Amino acid sequence: LPNNLYGASRENSSGVDWGNPQQLAEQIASLQKSGDLPRAVPSTLAGGAQAPQEVRNPANLAEVVGYVSVGTKEDIALAFDKAGQARKAWDDAGATHRAVCLVAAADKLRAHRAELVRLLVKEAGKTLPDAIAEVREAEDFCRYYAAEARAHFAEPTALPGPTGEENKLSLRGRGVFACISPWNFPLAIFLGQVTAALVAGNSVVAKPAESTPLVAALAVRLLHEAGVPHDVLHFVPSAGKLFGEVALKHPALGGVCFTGSTSTAQFINRALAARDGAIVPLIAETGGINAMIVDSSALLEQVADDVLTSAFTSAGQRCSALRLLFVQEEIADRLIELIAGGMNELHIGDPSQPSTDVGPVINKSAASKLEDYSKKVAQRGVKVLKQCDLNQVRTEGSYFAPRMLELNNARELTSEEFGPILHVVRYKRENLHSDVLASIREAGYGLTLGVHTRIESVWQEIVAEAAVGNIYINRNIIGAVVGVQPFGGEGLSGTGPKAGGPHYLFRFATERTLTVNT
Ligand code: SER
Repeated sequence: LPNNLYGASRENSSGVDWGNPQQLAEQIASLQKSGDLPRAVPSTLAGGAQAPQEVRNPANLAEVVGYVSVGTKEDIALAFDKAGQARKAWDDAGATHRAVCLVAAADKLRAHRAELVRLLVKEAGKTLPDAIAEVREAEDFCRYYAAEARAHFAEPTALPGPTGEENKLSLRGRGVFACISPWNFPLAIFLGQVTAALVAGNSVVAKPAESTPLVAALAVRLLHEAGVPHDVLHFVPSAGKLFGEVALKHPALGGVCFTGSTSTAQFINRALAARDGAIVPLIAETGGINAMIVDSSALLEQVADDVLTSAFTSAGQRCSALRLLFVQEEIADRLIELIAGGMNELHIGDPSQPSTDVGPVINKSAASKLEDYSKKVAQRGVKVLKQCDLNQVRTEGSYFAPRMLELNNARELTSEEFGPILHVVRYKRENLHSDVLASIREAGYGLTLGVHTRIESVWQEIVAEAAVGNIYINRNIIGAVVGVQPFGGEGLSGTGPKAGGPHYLFRFATERTLTVNT
């Protein structure tokens, strides 16, 4: 077995040293590509492929990045049929074999890093640092889940029993997993879901997000090349509604892994509950109205930096991103000034330039939705504390100017606005519990929370009260690292378990107890 298969010696992937001119030049050169444009086509076709549709660059909508042929109802059904037939042999092949495939896939991701980065920049509008971090995260998921499967799934656990009786507990796959992933992490979340389901002994039908099928298609190709049989992993780019209609009713369905909006997760949950036959579990990771609480003891320069990173990295299109900043009133004016000053320095524009901090949002409709929201709140009298300038960006791109708004009360923010909009609320120290923590609790989300304070008892009080999956003290609140900060929320933010954490794979498995009277 490869040395890096075991958890203890597993290492997270290495980054790119931008201080090294050669590495930087190589990274930039990798964005150029000549020759045929990539295509995403369902890996199983019931008939011929549908007419290809163009996939465009959100930073320049005039640029066609590749083509996608979406799957029909018949393609989706056939993928489930075939995955259903293939799953037993894959489960029987054992966790060690499956883990070897995942480690081989991680090596392939590393070898194809430049191509994957290029697609993430061009198809999803990711900045270079975001794209590099995402390929690293995908690689980490493969190695981490391989190590976890090797540790827990490879051999049955022997349990005590009376003399003459042997008891063993083993973990097996549940059937065919439908993996439904979002466009904001079209490689890392896509592959995280798929590899967890696969290594636990399931076969998979994977649906990429409609805006980002190309990088997912390449990831599937690499998994197939790494040894995952074609009938064990099916790829079906398709419209969400159509996929749901077929997948959620299919008799071979053994589980659903979904990342996206809370309302879609609730819809899937209802559809699964209405099925006849076996009861099928849902693993859902959804959104959040994520907050950061800053008290008057905090180090304001560091806070400003962490706020800028948390709210505006990835154009605010992370489920972990900061939406609501609670600032103790004594320091609010000073902190707002520092954040506004930092916003002046943000480079907004072409994500393929290494100097760019904030790229486009995913498409024009996302930009319009954010503009509509901003107009609506302006009509209500919400104050704009700062709005970045978009003079430098291409008009052919789907850009939205990062902004900072001030609310009188956190309860005015009732929806997750998925973009670079930061809301600031001032609070009084004596209202920390009755107002700040109460409003977070009432909103019902529980994904990420930040606290900035130099008083240990303050953050301990907050931690004791908050029902939030990922809490960060005195740092930014994005960029959870596989195996280091297992990621996922509670309440309206998801079902758990946490991606990149030691309990994740178990939810993809079923347990069998074998008792032998010797
Ligand atoms: N895992 C990502 C983060 O922590 C969000 O999906 O930012």
